[in-house]
This record gives sequence, C-alpha cells and structure tokens, in this order.
Amino acid sequence: MTFKSTGLWILSILTALIAVVVVDRQSGSTLRLGNRMFHSMWTYLGPVMDECLAPTKAPLLSLAQGKVVEIGPGHGSNFKYFAKNKVTSLIAVEPNTLMHPKLVEQAKEYGLDQFEIVGAMWENSNLEEGSCDAIISNLVLCSVDNLYHTLDLVHKYLKPGGKFIFIEHVGHPNGTMWRTMQNLVTPLWKYVGDNCHLNRDVAPALAAMDGWKDVELKVGDMCGSFPLVNPKIYGYATKV
Ligand SMILES: C[S@@+](CC[C@H](N)C(=O)[O-])C[C@H]1O[C@@H](n2cnc3c(N)ncnc32)[C@H](O)[C@@H]1O
Repeated sequence: MTFKSTGLWILSILTALIAVVVVDRQSGSTLRLGNRMFHSMWTYLGPVMDECLAPTKAPLLSLAQGKVVEIGPGHGSNFKYFAKNKVTSLIAVEPNTLMHPKLVEQAKEYGLDQFEIVGAMWENSNLEEGSCDAIISNLVLCSVDNLYHTLDLVHKYLKPGGKFIFIEHVGHPNGTMWRTMQNLVTPLWKYVGDNCHLNRDVAPALAAMDGWKDVELKVGDMCGSFPLVNPKIYGYATKV
C-alpha cells in the first residue's frame, strides 16, 4: 500500500465517519447508532472474520468445557467450535438485543440445550462469583469501557482452574506509524464501531494482572486485514 493510497483510505474513512456522526446526532433516536450499525455490518463482516479466524478459533475454543460464558458473542459464530460433549451450559452476555434472535438460532443449531442470554454489558452481568469453568472473549475487549475492570470480572467469575480464552485485535506497538494512525482514527471509529478502540493494549493489561497461571499468549496477523485492525493476540490464561 503506497503512502498516497493509505492517505486516501484514511481520508475517505474519516469523511464517512464524520458524516455518520452528524446524521446520528440529528436523528434523536434512543437506540445507539453503533449498535444498529454494528448489527448490520456484522451480518456480512462476521462470517468473513469467522472464516479467516477459524484456524485460530478451532483449537482454542475446543478447550472450553463445563459452564461456559461468552462475552459479546455477537451472532454466535463461535458456537460451532465448542466440543458439545464438554460444554454443559452456555451463557451469552450480549447487550445488543438485535443479535439475540441469531444467537438463539445458533445455539439450537449446535445443540447447546442449556443456553441462556444475559442482555447486559459484561460490566453489569452480575454472574455468580467463582461459578464459571471457561470465559471466552473474541473481538470484544476493544469495545469495553474499562479493560482492567473487565479483566477483573473475568477473574472473579471464573472458578479456580477455570480458563479465560481470548482472540482479540489490539494496538500496534507504540511509536509505529500505524499506532499513530490508530490513535488518530479511534475517537471517531469507536463512535460508529460500537465503542471499538483500535489502539487497545490488551496484552500488557493481561500481563499486569495477578492471579493467573499457564498463560499462553501469541501475537499474529489479523487475517491480513486492514492495518488499522491489526495485529491480533490469542491464547488463554488459567485462574490460580
Ligand atoms: C466485534 S463483535 C464480535 C462478536 C463475536 N464475538 C464474534 O467474534 O463474532 C463485538 C461484540 O461485543 C459486544 N459487546 C460490546 N461491548 C460489550 C460489553 N461491554 N459487554 C458485552 N458485550 C459487549 C457487541 O455487542 C458485539 O456483539
């Protein structure tokens, strides 16, 4: 990608984002624009991301067993990777109610009989402390309001020995050109992208936390996708 074409890409995106923000401000709707847009966009983009992430997802998500919770499962694209004889129940914490019908459909399709949707933000999900065998987060940590609080809750809700399984896009290293771009674009991007922060430092946040063992964290390319939504980290951590 040349410098000129990169500049044109960014200029086009910024113009589109500013137009959308202005229209939303004038609409007076109570439904968050990000929720509506994201639901529509994810109908098309979700399957594309799922396909390219499949080699990452399959081995990781098959580790989930017992009482499993997925944070922000969207349309339920991860359900097909669960080992049915190992996952005894699934709670989907998904605040965007537009996603719920598809979640129910996917749970039925993949034989997840013990299935429940909590229609709340993770931060307000009020799960029972120490009750979960596995908690999954896939492309969600970019969107939460407070990353550290979110990770604290993951730790709180897991049983000792329970696994946190994650696949996330994160910020480029500080000081790089693409990190600067992510810093510049994020204030507008998060408004239309359901609070998605392109420049989240998830790995350092995980590394700073006590109470985890057997941490496996790998860094990779996010499906060769647009550099603003790259790189990815993936792996798991076990609660001590
Ligand atoms: C990029 S989508 C990913 C969906 C799904 N995990 C996947 O990989 O296909 C982000 C999802 O996280 C949800 N989400 C955003 N903030 C959240 C929060 N604070 N708590 C729970 N879910 C959240 C959104 O509603 C959306 O469904």
